[in-house]
Amino acid sequence: MSRAYLVTEKGAAAELVDRDLSEIFGDDESADTTGTVDLEVLATSVNYKDGMALTGRPGIVRRYPLVPGIDVVGRVTASRASAFSIGDVVLLNGDGLGETRHGGLAEHARVRADALLPLPEGLTPEQAAAIGTAGFTSMLAVLALADAGVEPDDGEVLVTGAAGGVGSIAIALLAGRGYSVVASSGRAEAEGDYLRRLGAARVIDRSVLADDEGGPLQKATWAGAVDSVGSRTLATVLAQTRYGGTVVACGLAQGSDLPTTVLPFILRSVTLTGANSVEAPRALRERAWAALAEELDLELLDSLTTTVGFEDVPAVAERILAGEVRGRTVVRVGA
Ligand SMILES: NC(=O)c1ccc[n+]([C@@H]2O[C@H](COP(=O)([O-])OP(=O)(O)OC[C@H]3O[C@@H](n4cnc5c(N)ncnc54)[C@H](OP(=O)(O)O)[C@@H]3O)[C@@H](O)[C@H]2O)c1
Repeated sequence: MSRAYLVTEKGAAAELVDRDLSEIFGDDESADTTGTVDLEVLATSVNYKDGMALTGRPGIVRRYPLVPGIDVVGRVTASRASAFSIGDVVLLNGDGLGETRHGGLAEHARVRADALLPLPEGLTPEQAAAIGTAGFTSMLAVLALADAGVEPDDGEVLVTGAAGGVGSIAIALLAGRGYSVVASSGRAEAEGDYLRRLGAARVIDRSVLADDEGGPLQKATWAGAVDSVGSRTLATVLAQTRYGGTVVACGLAQGSDLPTTVLPFILRSVTLTGANSVEAPRALRERAWAALAEELDLELLDSLTTTVGFEDVPAVAERILAGEVRGRTVVRVGA
């Protein structure tokens, strides 16, 4: 038997069930018998996407019934893939988990081996879950900025959605690389000290990026930006990015629209690029996780992490959608 959250139909919130494993995975067409690995789940996390899936919001779960959870860290209990053996501790982010394939919010998981990585040395399963998709995406964004040539000496780098999971880890990573980080948050006052502890040099209130009065080209301010908010905020960030700067779009907490013009691109040579944790190819996953294991200050990671029990997941889902969760939430699974 295995406890698992299960979304059984469109629009329904996930239920906590206790079922025979074959009942959960038996009809899993995506989990064919070659190249899959069975896991005892050690830790998982709650991301914004999981909040949406768990509460029955549209856009995440693409087949029913489905176990949500876009992250998993687990111990291999059976392997049909030559790269992994029983007892290995592994992690997986995205790759359809919790969207088109059964995910990590369960005591057991069956995952594809294609994007599965060994737990990096120096990280506990809980720390890897704390990093999770949010931290992986933050590192993808940091690598995208660096690959685009944005260097610490170029000027201030902005992080929006700063007190959230992606934002918090992006601040820690960028500050660790020597960038001067400006954090934009709707909780600038309440979480100002937290954001500065993570490494933000300055904290601004997100409302200054949210109005549409400033026009398509504003005072050139940012050498680069990591945006997990989208919509009007991203349009303002583009309008304020300096000549040759790069902005990485990671999320849509404010909205998926982008009310901008071509002016930042044709008059300031601004680059807008993206980070996608779901489809990231294996080589990029390996590069990002190696960099995370090497660079992320684990004391800072622990300080931005809240650990909850398996039964607490539905309450966290509501809070993350309400923008009330700070940093990352790890779910302890099993004993
Ligand atoms: N591209 C990818 O592969 C990928 C991977 C992971 C996540 N994402 C996306 O990235 C976003 C953040 O994910 P997360 O897990 O970090 O979520 P999260 O922990 O809930 O953080 C989102 C943050 O955005 C800010 N925010 C929320 N509502 C807002 C609004 N209406 N206007 C402006 N800011 C708002 C809040 O920060 P403040 O309180 O500090 O303002 C909130 O903490 C989500 O849209 C998620 O789907 C994408």
